[in-house]
Amino acid sequence: MSKLDWINDELDGLREAGLFNEIRTIESPMGAWVTIDGRSVLNFCANNYLGLANHPRLRQATKEAIDTYGVGPGAVRTIAGTMAVHIELEERLAAFKKAEACITFQSGFTANLAVIPALVGKQDVIFSDELNHASIIDGCRLSRAKVVRYAHSNVDDLRRVIGETETNGRRLIITDGVFSMDGDIAPLDKLCEAAEEHDIMIMVDDAHGEGVLGDGGRGIVDHFKLHGRIDVEVGTLSKAFGVMGGLVAGKREIIEWLRQRGRPFLFSSAATVPDAAACLESVNMLEESTELVDKLWSNSAFFKKGMQALGFDTGETTTPILPVMLGEASLAQKFSRRLFEEGVFAMSIKFPTVPRGKARIRVMNSAAHSQSDLEMALDTFARVGRELGVIN
Ligand SMILES: Cc1ncc(COP(=O)(O)O)c(C=O)c1O
Repeated sequence: MSKLDWINDELDGLREAGLFNEIRTIESPMGAWVTIDGRSVLNFCANNYLGLANHPRLRQATKEAIDTYGVGPGAVRTIAGTMAVHIELEERLAAFKKAEACITFQSGFTANLAVIPALVGKQDVIFSDELNHASIIDGCRLSRAKVVRYAHSNVDDLRRVIGETETNGRRLIITDGVFSMDGDIAPLDKLCEAAEEHDIMIMVDDAHGEGVLGDGGRGIVDHFKLHGRIDVEVGTLSKAFGVMGGLVAGKREIIEWLRQRGRPFLFSSAATVPDAAACLESVNMLEESTELVDKLWSNSAFFKKGMQALGFDTGETTTPILPVMLGEASLAQKFSRRLFEEGVFAMSIKFPTVPRGKARIRVMNSAAHSQSDLEMALDTFARVGRELGVIN
């Protein structure tokens, strides 16, 4: 017996349950098409909504920034000082999002780990949507606040739990902006009204709305025109922005507080120079033109209409995330495997990421896809769907 036998037992258990993550190796840049095992396949897995992950302008901006600043930030920003490129990015993001101020983090995940424990602690209460992302759940746990869940996007249930929860401490409502497995948008306007009625802080994690929703991709707060009314807007630079990083935009005092008390800011080094410079170029591009955001939405509408016409169940989505509902995990897995054999890379999503019996293929639309890419994908879905008896 070795002290690590339990890990091998657990790994075997995952394999037997069909829950072991097999990760494919990408041998090319991230784009509409990627090379896997030497084959070029059409990519519907990435959150590369605007196709910026390998954009020539981001590549060029990165090279120039490296020539000016080098690569690494040296240490945490409060100790080693902060590079001008990070400050410029934060100022530009705040202006883009029409927020008072902005702070960036190494990722969206760490942004949530920073902001939630900085706002609430042991004496306090968090009202959290039952389908919130894992990084929100972990941020809530780290805060040690009491977490009260409300039914998904249900404002009446939120009001009920607020009414039933007594506390003398601070209160915080947290929701995802776009829910990543179904593609539905949180009713942020109504959640905001409930927060204002009870004078409760409100935070949205807009990872899948950043660069997607709102005017020119300004995010969910812009989508609902709630500027100045949402206390904290968390976002990621790892999806539509095409790079890596997290951001928090909001009231000036909250951002200043995060510079003083956000633990991933205080105890982990800043994002690298290439990350910051590439994100800055993404902001430039989004401010110059809405072309990519418009293309993302027209691609998404075309593909959704095509899939529905074929007879697929595409759930409740109102965003570029398209769930193709299949039911059993084994069917979803088989569907994904057959798509891949036919040249389309689209992942199956199953329990525990989604409830049992609600397995699906999740299609991530992108502005990078051409019309012929989308037509090829529709043909392939139709062929595989008929072969597996999902559609007629
Ligand atoms: C809602 C939500 N928050 C945060 C994250 C984490 O973002 P990042 O990849 O930048 O760490 C994700 C990524 O999947 C997400 O969907």
